[in-house]
Amino acid sequence: MKQDWRLQHILSIDQFARDDLEQVIAVADLMEPIASRRYSTRVLEGAVLANLFFEASTRTRISFHTAFARLGGAVCDTSSVVFSSISKGESLADTARVIAGYCDAIVIRHPDVGSAQEFANHVNIPVLNAGDGIGEHPSQALLDLYTIYKERMHRNNKPIDHCRVALVGDLKRGRTVHSLIRALSHFDDMEFVCVAPDSLQMPDDLVRKAKEAGHKVTICTDLQPGLATADVVYATRLQTERNDQGDTQTGYAPDFRITRKIINDVCGHDVIIMHPLPRDSRKNANDLSDELDGDPRNAIFRQADNGIAVRMAMFALTLGVVDQIKGDTHPSRWLQPAHWRRWE
Ligand code: NCD
Repeated sequence: MKQDWRLQHILSIDQFARDDLEQVIAVADLMEPIASRRYSTRVLEGAVLANLFFEASTRTRISFHTAFARLGGAVCDTSSVVFSSISKGESLADTARVIAGYCDAIVIRHPDVGSAQEFANHVNIPVLNAGDGIGEHPSQALLDLYTIYKERMHRNNKPIDHCRVALVGDLKRGRTVHSLIRALSHFDDMEFVCVAPDSLQMPDDLVRKAKEAGHKVTICTDLQPGLATADVVYATRLQTERNDQGDTQTGYAPDFRITRKIINDVCGHDVIIMHPLPRDSRKNANDLSDELDGDPRNAIFRQADNGIAVRMAMFALTLGVVDQIKGDTHPSRWLQPAHWRRWE
């Protein structure tokens, strides 16, 4: 049975059972005409979002902001601890309580695991976790799931189930993969291949949980066999800023770079290539190669676009306006390119 999300916090992907994940997908589909700007709505007119980012972000911050604005709401943005009263020694509890007196929902990204939960403990409005250190990133997992659903359904006419997913890169510190493996574990007969050097492998407890949910998990330290016959290749950036153990590694070894040649050699024509972005394009970083840009198998920018519909769905569910969308939507009135997704 799907949950009632009205005035609930979204802090962890573990709050979502399969029915809930499917509900988010259905509401995101409902939002798609507005997210893609063909239609507009004012269902959140008068509501204000506090969009609090105490850690670097471009797309997560801007897409939460845009999602709220496309529902007709207004947004207050704070980025960096330096510009907030936390730099004056204010506790998260006090900051949270004050903001709840001003705003109707809070999005928070913070470098400490558990910080979003700490915020939620002190307020009665929805708190959405936009990433807490190496902990969780539930909105990213939801948009990743929505991307896998859309790409598989629309391109290959397949459900999310029975999917072979290669998770590649910094699986130790990448919070996106931590949340994604948990979300995908709700589907049937999944296979996860964790492709990373030993020092960056998926934490044991997450591997164990996926296995306990009945899925096959393979640990692989070589890129080529790891990617072979994958349905989804999910690449991640090396999280050098989370360098807690003094490791001086600044990039992946060159044989870890996902190139057009490797994809052509070992993956099928319908493989889905994903990355939460940002991709590290610096020389020697050896992140996902840009040779694959423009290749229809590369879904990374469609994936980022999907962040709007999914975050709109999160706001519509937690602020209780899903049922009002259909009656409060009209064609957009401003000029737009005929094919706004013309670059794909
Ligand atoms: C990710 C993050 O912040 O965890 N980015 C994002 O939210 N899209 C991944 C990353 O920073 O590598």
